[in-house]
Amino acid sequence: MSSTPLPIIPQPKRAQRFEGPAFNLTADTVITAPTELHSAAQRLAVRIETATHWKLPMLESSDAANRIEFQMAKASLENNEAYTLKVTAEGVLITATHGSGAFYGVQSLLQLFPAAIYDAQPRPNIEWPAIAAEIEDAPRFPWRGVMLDSSRYFQPVDAIKKYIDVLSQHKINVFHWHLVDDQGWRLEIKKYPKLTEIGSKRPETISGHGTLELGGDGQPIEGFYSQDEVRDLVAYASQRHVHILPEIEMPGHAQAVVAAYPELGLLDEAKPVSCIWGIHETLFNTKPATFDFIKDVLDEVITLFPFEYLHVGGDEAIKPQWKKDPYTQAHIKALGLKDEDELQSWFIREIETFLQTKNRKLVGWDEILEGGLAPGATVMSWRGIEGGIEAARQGNDAIMCANPYLYFDYSQAETNENEPLAIRDNLSIEKAHSYEPIPAELNEEQAKHIIGVQSQLWTEYIATPSRLEYMSFPRICASAEVAWSPRERPDFPHFLNRLCTHLRRLDVQDVRYRAPLEYVKA
Ligand code: ACM
Repeated sequence: MSSTPLPIIPQPKRAQRFEGPAFNLTADTVITAPTELHSAAQRLAVRIETATHWKLPMLESSDAANRIEFQMAKASLENNEAYTLKVTAEGVLITATHGSGAFYGVQSLLQLFPAAIYDAQPRPNIEWPAIAAEIEDAPRFPWRGVMLDSSRYFQPVDAIKKYIDVLSQHKINVFHWHLVDDQGWRLEIKKYPKLTEIGSKRPETISGHGTLELGGDGQPIEGFYSQDEVRDLVAYASQRHVHILPEIEMPGHAQAVVAAYPELGLLDEAKPVSCIWGIHETLFNTKPATFDFIKDVLDEVITLFPFEYLHVGGDEAIKPQWKKDPYTQAHIKALGLKDEDELQSWFIREIETFLQTKNRKLVGWDEILEGGLAPGATVMSWRGIEGGIEAARQGNDAIMCANPYLYFDYSQAETNENEPLAIRDNLSIEKAHSYEPIPAELNEEQAKHIIGVQSQLWTEYIATPSRLEYMSFPRICASAEVAWSPRERPDFPHFLNRLCTHLRRLDVQDVRYRAPLEYVKA
């Protein structure tokens, strides 16, 4: 056994490195897999062919000496995502009970090869040793998410595919897609074409951290994802064992919707799609026709996204418009509610009841706790950890998105001075890596309701895919480890050691991460 860390991120549950000779991948290597694990084996074969030009035979079984073998695990493993991986000079064995476990076995195996295995075109004339090792692995949390805001700025489909592919290499399994906000509605809805005809366009964007008086940039932003593109992305993600969680915001962050359909709002004259950042006052009204609209939209969303969860936002819905509006005030009284917070809670419960009839579970930001939590709701705790604690104490599931540790729109340096403009600062890789998602306040039973961890990429200051990659990596390498690896994971220096190798994998894939130069010894 060797004490040099295996260069795998996220750190597996149990991993041993052997001193012995490596496995050598050659043009004669054979891949074998039972039907159940065939698609993971096929992904490996495609990756190998892309990087080496060798089209390796894929068989049900073989006695060939030089083989990569997938087997259904004989003993039961911890869950569907668990796998074992053994690499010796004689061959490679991956066992799993399910395709997702086999897929994660492949991700770990790829990290034992030279980084060139990730190349998009063949590398002739190099050797392909895989480090000899034995691994038993399973994730700590079932929900390992990354959220991308495609409203403030939106990304071409190809950039999202590249992003999801890289996330899946880090064993991330949820891509939370923030598709609508005050500054743009980005999803084609057939029944309501004005959502994209009007709601996906803004004439310009506020400059810097400024206010509108300081002027905009004069650059129109417009675009949306067609339903065909969405179906294609969902299939692409699914092949990589990534679920896409769509987010449709309500009752706030609604300015782009209300700009398109003013009858859904509360003002005589609706505000246009917003060109500035920050919290907006525009809310949906609570009339029956508004709920009909929302349910129609959600019907289309449900058809597009097969994931069992659906996110309804719920954050930052400040209430001045509801306070001033006679219909809303009368509605609060008629429902026997105390105030606007309780009306928001009623609103979310109405939608939860609807989603239940469609076999979907509701997710919302932690503001959905205010005024009373919907019975089956899952809470994303973003304003620190309190929302997660409260939800778990009430017996609801929670996903930890805590902004001090997991908001990767904050810059990675201590101050913004030498960094591109960002909303805040001081969120280093080390800080992300140090995060412990189970709050100490929870007892063992309550802690079971913390089902996962998620990183957030809000895009007010992220206008391009390369800036998105710069803000995301390598911090997502760290947060993926928080989500996957056991609580007693190795310390930060150990992570950095593995990261040195891992960054080469990102280089090969042209991922524009921020070089963590502050950790390089002088
Ligand atoms: C949020 O950051 N408004 C969820």
